[in-house]
Amino acid sequence: MDSNIRPDTMQRITTLELAQAFIDEQVKQVREQVGDKKVLLALSGGVDSSVVAALLIKAIGKQLVCVHVNHGLMRKGESEQVIEIFRDGLDANLIYIDATDRFLDKLVDVEDPETKRKIIGGEFVRVFEEEARKLEGISFLGQGTIYPDILESDGVKAHHNVGGLPEDMQFIGLVEPVKLLYKDEVRVVGKALGLPASMVDRQPFPGPGLGVRCTGAITRDRLHSLRESDAILREEFDKAGLTDKVWQFFTVVPDFRSTGVRDGKRVFDWPVIIRAVNTVDAMSATVPEIDWAILKKITDRILNEVPGVCRVLYDLSPKAPATIEWE
Ligand code: XMP
Repeated sequence: MDSNIRPDTMQRITTLELAQAFIDEQVKQVREQVGDKKVLLALSGGVDSSVVAALLIKAIGKQLVCVHVNHGLMRKGESEQVIEIFRDGLDANLIYIDATDRFLDKLVDVEDPETKRKIIGGEFVRVFEEEARKLEGISFLGQGTIYPDILESDGVKAHHNVGGLPEDMQFIGLVEPVKLLYKDEVRVVGKALGLPASMVDRQPFPGPGLGVRCTGAITRDRLHSLRESDAILREEFDKAGLTDKVWQFFTVVPDFRSTGVRDGKRVFDWPVIIRAVNTVDAMSATVPEIDWAILKKITDRILNEVPGVCRVLYDLSPKAPATIEWE
Protein backbone atom coordinates (compact mmCIF):
# COMPACT_ATOMS: atom_id res chain seq x y z
CA MET A 1 0.00 0.00 0.00
CA ASP A 2 1.16 3.53 -0.77
CA SER A 3 2.56 4.89 2.49
CA ASN A 4 1.47 8.37 1.39
CA ILE A 5 -2.23 7.50 1.52
CA ARG A 6 -4.08 7.85 4.77
CA PRO A 7 -5.99 4.61 5.42
CA ASP A 8 -9.76 5.00 5.82
CA THR A 9 -9.48 3.15 9.12
CA MET A 10 -7.09 5.70 10.64
CA GLN A 11 -8.75 7.39 13.60
CA ARG A 12 -8.78 11.17 13.74
CA ILE A 13 -6.49 12.36 16.55
CA THR A 14 -8.70 14.61 18.64
CA THR A 15 -7.57 13.95 22.21
CA LEU A 16 -4.31 13.90 24.13
CA GLU A 17 -4.79 10.16 24.76
CA LEU A 18 -5.06 9.43 21.03
CA ALA A 19 -2.07 11.72 20.42
CA GLN A 20 -0.06 9.82 23.03
CA ALA A 21 -0.82 6.49 21.35
CA PHE A 22 0.25 8.00 18.01
CA ILE A 23 3.47 9.32 19.56
CA ASP A 24 4.31 5.93 21.12
CA GLU A 25 3.80 4.21 17.78
CA GLN A 26 5.88 6.79 15.86
CA VAL A 27 8.69 6.67 18.41
CA LYS A 28 8.88 2.91 17.84
CA GLN A 29 8.75 3.23 14.06
CA VAL A 30 11.34 6.02 13.90
CA ARG A 31 13.74 4.03 16.10
CA GLU A 32 13.32 1.02 13.81
CA GLN A 33 13.83 3.13 10.68
CA VAL A 34 16.81 5.13 11.91
CA GLY A 35 18.69 2.69 14.14
CA ASP A 36 21.84 4.41 15.38
CA LYS A 37 22.07 6.80 12.42
CA LYS A 38 21.58 10.56 12.37
CA VAL A 39 18.68 12.65 11.07
CA LEU A 40 18.89 16.24 9.85
CA LEU A 41 15.90 18.57 10.19
CA ALA A 42 15.29 22.17 9.12
CA LEU A 43 13.52 23.63 12.14
CA SER A 44 11.77 26.85 11.17
CA GLY A 45 9.78 27.19 14.36
CA GLY A 46 6.49 26.66 12.51
CA VAL A 47 3.99 24.16 13.88
CA ASP A 48 4.89 21.24 11.63
CA SER A 49 8.68 21.29 11.89
CA SER A 50 8.46 22.00 15.63
CA VAL A 51 6.20 19.02 16.28
CA VAL A 52 8.42 16.76 14.18
CA ALA A 53 11.49 18.01 16.06
CA ALA A 54 9.90 17.32 19.45
CA LEU A 55 8.77 13.88 18.30
CA LEU A 56 12.19 12.96 16.91
CA ILE A 57 13.96 14.22 20.03
CA LYS A 58 11.74 11.89 22.02
CA ALA A 59 12.56 9.01 19.68
CA ILE A 60 16.27 9.46 19.02
CA GLY A 61 17.52 12.35 21.19
CA LYS A 62 20.88 13.69 20.05
CA GLN A 63 20.83 11.63 16.86
CA LEU A 64 18.59 14.41 15.57
CA VAL A 65 20.45 17.46 14.30
CA CYS A 66 18.19 20.51 13.95
CA VAL A 67 19.21 23.49 11.86
CA HIS A 68 17.39 26.76 12.45
CA VAL A 69 18.04 29.36 9.78
CA ASN A 70 17.11 32.90 10.77
CA HIS A 71 16.54 34.61 7.43
CA GLY A 72 16.15 37.99 9.11
CA LEU A 73 12.46 38.03 8.19
CA MET A 74 11.20 36.35 11.36
CA ARG A 75 8.76 37.98 13.73
CA LYS A 76 10.12 39.56 16.89
CA GLY A 77 11.40 36.95 19.34
CA GLU A 78 10.71 34.00 17.06
CA SER A 79 14.22 32.61 16.67
CA GLU A 80 14.83 33.20 20.38
CA GLN A 81 11.74 31.10 21.15
CA VAL A 82 13.04 28.24 19.00
CA ILE A 83 16.36 28.28 20.86
CA GLU A 84 14.69 28.55 24.25
CA ILE A 85 12.26 25.68 23.67
CA PHE A 86 14.51 23.28 21.81
CA ARG A 87 18.06 23.94 22.97
CA ASP A 88 17.40 25.09 26.53
CA GLY A 89 14.17 23.16 27.17
CA LEU A 90 14.53 19.89 25.25
CA ASP A 91 18.34 19.76 25.14
CA ALA A 92 18.22 19.45 21.35
CA ASN A 93 21.23 19.20 19.12
CA LEU A 94 20.44 22.57 17.49
CA ILE A 95 22.54 24.58 15.09
CA TYR A 96 21.46 28.23 14.89
CA ILE A 97 22.44 30.22 11.83
CA ASP A 98 21.85 33.94 11.67
CA ALA A 99 21.79 34.52 7.92
CA THR A 100 20.07 37.92 8.14
CA ASP A 101 22.73 39.86 6.23
CA ARG A 102 22.95 37.25 3.52
CA PHE A 103 19.21 37.37 2.83
CA LEU A 104 18.81 41.12 3.11
CA ASP A 105 21.82 41.74 0.85
CA LYS A 106 20.29 39.49 -1.81
CA LEU A 107 16.99 41.35 -1.55
CA VAL A 108 18.34 44.89 -1.98
CA ASP A 109 16.33 46.73 -4.69
CA VAL A 110 14.21 43.65 -5.48
CA GLU A 111 10.64 44.88 -5.85
CA ASP A 112 8.69 42.09 -7.48
CA PRO A 113 6.88 39.90 -4.89
CA GLU A 114 7.37 36.61 -6.70
CA THR A 115 11.06 37.33 -7.28
CA LYS A 116 11.37 38.12 -3.58
CA ARG A 117 9.72 34.78 -2.73
CA LYS A 118 12.06 32.92 -5.11
CA ILE A 119 15.15 34.58 -3.67
CA ILE A 120 14.09 33.86 -0.07
CA GLY A 121 13.14 30.23 -0.83
CA GLY A 122 16.26 29.60 -2.92
CA GLU A 123 18.62 31.20 -0.43
CA PHE A 124 17.02 29.21 2.38
CA VAL A 125 17.80 25.95 0.60
CA ARG A 126 21.38 27.09 -0.11
CA VAL A 127 22.09 28.07 3.50
CA PHE A 128 20.63 24.80 4.72
CA GLU A 129 22.64 22.79 2.18
CA GLU A 130 25.87 24.52 3.11
CA GLU A 131 25.29 23.69 6.75
CA ALA A 132 24.32 20.12 5.93
CA ARG A 133 27.54 19.62 3.94
CA LYS A 134 29.61 20.61 6.97
CA LEU A 135 28.05 17.85 9.03
CA GLU A 136 29.43 14.35 9.01
CA GLY A 137 27.53 11.11 9.00
CA ILE A 138 23.96 12.25 8.44
CA SER A 139 21.87 9.49 6.90
CA PHE A 140 18.28 10.70 6.97
CA LEU A 141 16.43 13.92 6.26
CA GLY A 142 13.54 14.74 8.58
CA GLN A 143 10.63 16.73 7.20
CA GLY A 144 7.53 18.36 8.59
CA THR A 145 5.35 17.17 5.71
CA ILE A 146 1.67 16.98 6.67
CA TYR A 147 -1.23 15.35 4.81
CA PRO A 148 -2.48 18.52 3.07
CA ASP A 149 1.06 18.96 1.65
CA ILE A 150 0.75 15.52 0.05
CA LEU A 151 -2.78 16.22 -1.19
CA GLU A 152 -1.78 19.60 -2.65
CA SER A 153 1.84 18.97 -3.48
CA ASP A 154 2.00 22.23 -5.42
CA GLY A 155 0.65 24.17 -2.43
CA VAL A 156 2.03 27.44 -1.12
CA LYS A 157 4.52 25.68 1.12
CA ALA A 158 6.16 23.62 -1.55
CA HIS A 159 8.93 26.07 -2.33
CA HIS A 160 9.82 26.41 1.30
CA ASN A 161 10.13 22.75 2.12
CA VAL A 162 13.63 21.48 1.70
CA GLY A 163 12.92 19.55 -1.47
CA GLY A 164 15.80 20.62 -3.63
CA LEU A 165 18.76 19.09 -1.88
CA PRO A 166 21.74 18.47 -4.17
CA GLU A 167 22.26 15.05 -5.64
CA ASP A 168 25.66 14.62 -4.08
CA MET A 169 24.04 14.60 -0.65
CA GLN A 170 22.85 11.06 -0.45
CA PHE A 171 20.28 10.42 2.23
CA ILE A 172 19.15 6.88 2.87
CA GLY A 173 15.64 8.18 3.25
CA LEU A 174 13.16 10.65 4.63
CA VAL A 175 11.73 10.67 8.13
CA GLU A 176 8.24 12.18 7.98
CA PRO A 177 6.35 11.07 11.08
CA VAL A 178 3.34 13.40 10.70
CA LYS A 179 2.84 13.06 6.97
CA LEU A 180 -0.58 11.42 7.33
CA LEU A 181 -1.91 13.97 9.81
CA TYR A 182 -4.10 17.00 9.28
CA LYS A 183 -3.08 20.31 10.83
CA ASP A 184 -5.47 20.07 13.80
CA GLU A 185 -4.06 16.62 14.61
CA VAL A 186 -0.48 17.90 14.41
CA ARG A 187 -1.44 20.56 16.97
CA VAL A 188 -2.87 17.96 19.37
CA VAL A 189 0.28 15.85 18.99
CA GLY A 190 2.38 18.96 19.70
CA LYS A 191 0.43 19.59 22.89
CA ALA A 192 0.83 15.96 23.97
CA LEU A 193 4.59 16.39 23.43
CA GLY A 194 4.53 19.36 25.81
CA LEU A 195 5.14 22.16 23.31
CA PRO A 196 3.67 25.50 24.43
CA ALA A 197 0.39 26.78 22.98
CA SER A 198 2.21 29.85 21.63
CA MET A 199 4.05 27.50 19.27
CA VAL A 200 1.46 24.80 18.62
CA ASP A 201 -1.56 27.06 18.10
CA ARG A 202 0.24 29.79 16.24
CA GLN A 203 -1.34 31.31 13.18
CA PRO A 204 0.02 30.63 9.71
CA PHE A 205 3.18 32.54 8.94
CA PRO A 206 4.31 32.54 5.32
CA GLY A 207 7.66 30.94 4.46
CA PRO A 208 8.99 34.28 3.17
CA GLY A 209 8.01 35.72 6.54
CA LEU A 210 7.96 39.47 7.00
CA GLY A 211 9.53 39.76 3.54
CA VAL A 212 6.10 39.91 1.86
CA ARG A 213 4.77 42.37 4.44
CA CYS A 214 7.53 44.91 3.88
CA THR A 215 6.22 45.64 0.40
CA GLY A 216 8.41 46.43 -2.59
CA ALA A 217 12.16 46.54 -2.06
CA ILE A 218 12.87 45.60 1.57
CA THR A 219 14.83 48.13 3.61
CA ARG A 220 16.16 47.59 7.11
CA ASP A 221 14.40 50.63 8.56
CA ARG A 222 10.99 49.54 7.29
CA LEU A 223 11.66 45.97 8.35
CA HIS A 224 12.39 47.22 11.85
CA SER A 225 9.13 49.24 11.90
CA LEU A 226 7.27 46.17 10.63
CA ARG A 227 8.69 43.84 13.27
CA GLU A 228 8.05 46.27 16.12
CA SER A 229 4.50 47.14 15.00
CA ASP A 230 3.67 43.44 14.50
CA ALA A 231 4.89 42.71 18.04
CA ILE A 232 2.67 45.49 19.44
CA LEU A 233 -0.34 44.19 17.51
CA ARG A 234 0.22 40.65 18.78
CA GLU A 235 0.68 41.84 22.35
CA GLU A 236 -2.50 43.94 22.32
CA PHE A 237 -4.60 41.27 20.58
CA ASP A 238 -3.37 38.81 23.18
CA LYS A 239 -4.31 41.13 26.06
CA ALA A 240 -7.75 41.68 24.52
CA GLY A 241 -8.34 37.91 24.20
CA LEU A 242 -8.42 38.10 20.39
CA THR A 243 -5.55 35.73 19.61
CA ASP A 244 -7.82 32.66 19.51
CA LYS A 245 -10.70 34.52 17.89
CA VAL A 246 -8.96 35.99 14.84
CA TRP A 247 -7.48 33.52 12.35
CA GLN A 248 -4.53 35.60 11.15
CA PHE A 249 -3.38 39.12 11.94
CA PHE A 250 -0.26 41.10 11.24
CA THR A 251 1.00 44.49 10.15
CA VAL A 252 2.26 45.62 6.78
CA VAL A 253 4.65 48.48 6.04
CA PRO A 254 4.18 49.59 2.42
CA ASP A 255 6.87 51.27 0.36
CA PHE A 256 5.22 54.68 0.14
CA ARG A 257 5.33 57.55 2.60
CA SER A 258 2.81 60.10 3.73
CA THR A 259 3.08 63.51 5.34
CA GLY A 260 2.83 63.88 9.09
CA VAL A 261 3.66 66.37 11.83
CA ARG A 262 5.99 65.61 14.72
CA ASP A 263 7.18 68.14 17.31
CA GLY A 264 5.74 70.94 15.18
CA LYS A 265 7.73 69.88 12.12
CA ARG A 266 6.55 68.21 8.94
CA VAL A 267 7.76 64.67 8.48
CA PHE A 268 7.46 62.28 5.57
CA ASP A 269 7.11 58.85 7.19
CA TRP A 270 5.77 55.33 6.64
CA PRO A 271 2.24 54.16 7.32
CA VAL A 272 1.56 50.90 9.19
CA ILE A 273 -1.40 48.85 7.95
CA ILE A 274 -3.14 46.45 10.33
CA ARG A 275 -4.46 43.33 8.62
CA ALA A 276 -6.76 40.89 10.44
CA VAL A 277 -8.85 38.17 8.82
CA ASN A 278 -11.10 35.27 9.61
CA THR A 279 -11.32 32.33 7.26
CA VAL A 280 -11.83 28.58 7.16
CA ASP A 281 -9.44 27.62 4.38
CA ALA A 282 -7.70 30.89 3.39
CA MET A 283 -9.45 30.76 0.00
CA SER A 284 -11.83 33.51 1.07
CA ALA A 285 -11.65 35.71 4.15
CA THR A 286 -13.68 38.27 6.07
CA VAL A 287 -12.47 41.16 8.21
CA PRO A 288 -13.49 41.01 11.88
CA GLU A 289 -14.99 44.04 13.58
CA ILE A 290 -12.36 44.95 16.13
CA ASP A 291 -13.40 47.07 19.06
CA TRP A 292 -12.55 50.72 18.41
CA ALA A 293 -10.80 51.13 21.77
CA ILE A 294 -8.45 48.25 20.97
CA LEU A 295 -7.62 49.67 17.54
CA LYS A 296 -7.05 53.07 19.10
CA LYS A 297 -4.70 51.67 21.74
CA ILE A 298 -2.70 49.79 19.10
CA THR A 299 -2.56 52.93 16.95
CA ASP A 300 -1.34 55.07 19.88
CA ARG A 301 1.33 52.54 20.80
CA ILE A 302 2.60 52.16 17.24
CA LEU A 303 2.75 55.93 16.72
CA ASN A 304 4.57 56.43 20.01
CA GLU A 305 6.88 53.43 20.03
CA VAL A 306 7.77 52.65 16.43
CA PRO A 307 10.25 54.91 14.69
CA GLY A 308 9.52 56.36 11.25
CA VAL A 309 5.76 55.86 11.36
CA CYS A 310 3.19 58.68 11.27
CA ARG A 311 -0.04 56.92 10.28
CA VAL A 312 -1.87 53.67 11.13
CA LEU A 313 -4.60 52.13 8.96
CA TYR A 314 -6.96 49.17 9.35
CA ASP A 315 -7.46 47.18 6.15
CA LEU A 316 -11.22 46.57 5.68
CA SER A 317 -10.92 44.54 2.48
CA PRO A 318 -12.26 40.98 2.35
CA LYS A 319 -10.73 38.23 0.22
CA ALA A 320 -11.76 38.41 -2.62
CA PRO A 321 -10.92 40.75 -4.17
CA ALA A 322 -8.01 41.46 -1.77
CA THR A 323 -5.67 38.63 -0.82
CA ILE A 324 -4.78 38.14 2.84
CA GLU A 325 -1.16 39.17 2.35
CA TRP A 326 -0.38 42.46 0.63
CA GLU A 327 2.07 40.80 -1.76
P1 XMP B 1 -3.15 35.06 0.34
O1 XMP B 1 -2.33 36.29 0.52
O2 XMP B 1 -2.87 34.35 -0.94
O3 XMP B 1 -2.72 34.07 1.50
O4 XMP B 1 -4.64 35.32 0.51
C1 XMP B 1 -3.38 32.87 1.85
C2 XMP B 1 -2.59 32.25 3.01
O5 XMP B 1 -1.32 31.78 2.54
C3 XMP B 1 -0.28 32.43 3.25
N1 XMP B 1 0.80 32.73 2.29
C4 XMP B 1 1.96 32.05 2.18
N2 XMP B 1 2.44 31.00 2.88
N3 XMP B 1 4.39 31.03 1.56
C5 XMP B 1 3.66 30.50 2.56
O6 XMP B 1 4.14 29.55 3.20
C6 XMP B 1 3.98 32.09 0.81
O7 XMP B 1 4.67 32.55 -0.10
C7 XMP B 1 2.69 32.61 1.15
N4 XMP B 1 1.95 33.62 0.63
C8 XMP B 1 0.79 33.68 1.36
C9 XMP B 1 -0.88 33.67 3.86
O8 XMP B 1 -0.19 34.11 5.03
C10 XMP B 1 -2.31 33.22 4.15
O9 XMP B 1 -2.39 32.51 5.38
